[in-house]
Amino acid sequence: MDSSREFLCIGHRGARGHAPENTLLSIDTGIRLGAGMIEFDVQRCVDELVVIHDLRLERTTNGQGRVGHARYDELRRLDAGSGQHIPSLREVLDLVGARVALNIELKSADGTAAQVAQVLRGVIGDGWSTEQFLVSSFHLPELYEFKQSLPEVPVAALVCGVPLDWAACATELGAQALNLSAEFADARLVADAHGRGLKVYAYTVNHPEDIAALRAAGLDGVFSDYPDRVAKAIAGE
Ligand code: G3P
Ligand code: MG
Repeated sequence: MDSSREFLCIGHRGARGHAPENTLLSIDTGIRLGAGMIEFDVQRCVDELVVIHDLRLERTTNGQGRVGHARYDELRRLDAGSGQHIPSLREVLDLVGARVALNIELKSADGTAAQVAQVLRGVIGDGWSTEQFLVSSFHLPELYEFKQSLPEVPVAALVCGVPLDWAACATELGAQALNLSAEFADARLVADAHGRGLKVYAYTVNHPEDIAALRAAGLDGVFSDYPDRVAKAIAGE
């Protein structure tokens, strides 16, 4: 294997194997453990963009109800684990301070893209560059809207299976990457994507053997709850 080829370690929801997911602690831990990019999930609450995976609060916090129905001052008071709170997108940008790249996954639609674009517009050129962001979503129309409003920021089409028209979707989006579930990441698909100028990243890969196998299959990186394992797999070659 060509060990000089870049293989990106993407901390999933920060470093969710080590700290409560999508919190500042998790994101900081991911950076400390060697992630070159940190992935986190963003959605709208009533008056802010917040970093949380589920549309409801119960699984990851001591709150109840739908994130989209709450105001940020209410959400800010909840415990998201280990005394951490639900961060806003702006807080994450402040914490990271352009030390690593960020994969912002849009979880909600209906205006999330426009709001994220507005926040990123405010920091690009002010410590951050466009290439330090990768915006992704399973909601491809929302992602398309993002690309229309901030074309210079790279986007990744998130797919869960492999739709028949994945290549057409990626092309229409003007995507730079295809983020797909690890179980569908085979060498043939990767070669096809590379032929179309797309990077391929697979989620969510936690076993060292699987990390090594995907690297050997030609992938450009993996999302992991344990960024330290990816860093170790790369260093071990
Ligand atoms: O962005 C990769 C991965 O995070 C997508 O799935 O459900 O973990 O957000 P999920
Ligand atoms: Mg995600």
